[in-house]
Amino acid sequence: MSVLAIDAGTTGVTALVVTETGQISSKGYEEFAQHFPEPGWVEHNPEDIWQATLSACAAALRGSDDPPSCVGITNQRETAVLWDRRTLAAPRRAIVWQDRRTAGVCERLRSAGHEPRVSELTGLRLDPYFTATKLTWLAEHDPGVWAGVESGNVAVGTVDSYLIARLTAGARHVTDPSNASRTLLYGLQSGGWEPELCALFGVPAQALPEIVPNHGPLGRTDPAAFLGLQLPISGVAGDQQAALFGQTCFDVGDVKCTYGTGSFVLTNTGGEIVRSQSGLLTTVAWQEPSGARTFALEGSIFVTGAAVQWLRDGLGLIGTAPESEAVARTVPDSGGVVFVPALTGLGAPYWDPGARGLISGITRGTTRAHLVRATLEAIAFEVRDVVEVMTGGTVPVLKADGGASANDLLMQFQADQLGAPVERPVIQETTALGAAFLAGLGAGVWGSRAELRKTWQLDRRFEPGERDDTAYERWRAAVRLASAT
Ligand code: G3P
Repeated sequence: MSVLAIDAGTTGVTALVVTETGQISSKGYEEFAQHFPEPGWVEHNPEDIWQATLSACAAALRGSDDPPSCVGITNQRETAVLWDRRTLAAPRRAIVWQDRRTAGVCERLRSAGHEPRVSELTGLRLDPYFTATKLTWLAEHDPGVWAGVESGNVAVGTVDSYLIARLTAGARHVTDPSNASRTLLYGLQSGGWEPELCALFGVPAQALPEIVPNHGPLGRTDPAAFLGLQLPISGVAGDQQAALFGQTCFDVGDVKCTYGTGSFVLTNTGGEIVRSQSGLLTTVAWQEPSGARTFALEGSIFVTGAAVQWLRDGLGLIGTAPESEAVARTVPDSGGVVFVPALTGLGAPYWDPGARGLISGITRGTTRAHLVRATLEAIAFEVRDVVEVMTGGTVPVLKADGGASANDLLMQFQADQLGAPVERPVIQETTALGAAFLAGLGAGVWGSRAELRKTWQLDRRFEPGERDDTAYERWRAAVRLASAT
């Protein structure tokens, strides 16, 4: 028995076939186009995401002789997707979580005094990151499409709901609480769509998906739509909550960080809705079929791996992202260079959409190696900023995953900066693994979390060494300057 996990991320779709022992037996990956129609805008064509899903799944299935018994889904969160309920065609491109166009909508609502109530209901803040203001913007700027939403012909959702609609040939319009809790429309206490928020953001509640638990029977794939396969869809979660699950962070206080384009630190707070006074988000981790929910505190950092990509694509300083480690190792430190990669504003814990990137401390002796090293250091500083406010300073251990967790220099620097060990599992594609775990739990491949825990394998533990707090103080000073720009 195996599980097919689909991870529809921001730049591409990964499909994994995961065995009963929690190993990856095969993998497919397909990138899709990014659209930047104006500065600060980011859009995806939903059809591209679907086609990439089909290609990635076909490749993963070709590589495995163990046919899957169920499907799990995880996805980039917050992105607003619209599609025709009958044809499943998207009438326009999706507005991606990174898109900053709704800063004005957020400011308008904030000036009108709505933020405290919105935060109280949702655990989030008024920031362009979340789904609802993207929908408000669409209602105001794309009236033709919005008329379809209001008449009921056009469905609204996040990438999980869109994929489930495509996989089931339109039979299901569902989402799960981990994704719903990122929209600004879901009530943390009520566990459902909040009429007050739907009214505030101008979103008709009937356009939204039904909210279902994270594992259990969610639908079946339609063979005509999905590679001739009729499989139960039995697990779904937003990618960061899926990573928390994939890292088996099942206990209160467990903390993980996924190092991708951005980095997302989540800690399990159990059945308690914990509110942060320091810029963290309160979010649903997952919901059991019984209705019991587990919550999390999250620090969302928008640009980490994307800063390394910028060194590669924007500046041409490195040929590949992994090369950053070897280049950074050619110097003992950053030589006083500090890079604040606020390339799309700052997320947690600062929340400043107007902040811009900043490089300071450059001298005649500065080389590309110093800048590359400063970029890796910035990632660790950003994560330290979040972990410190999350845990009050001490974390027993940070579980790391995602692409950049393969960088040993970064992981060691992270452990040094946190003053705590960092553990990296053998499988670093933890978002997809979490989706596989949820689906396998939902379909009976695994019977309990204890069984899942047994499959988690340590690759390497980085013990903290000496901590350079002077460098961190320089970082904090530079962040203040980046916010003022
Ligand atoms: O909140 C955004 C997050 O879900 C994006 O994740 O993996 O696509 O970078 P990723």
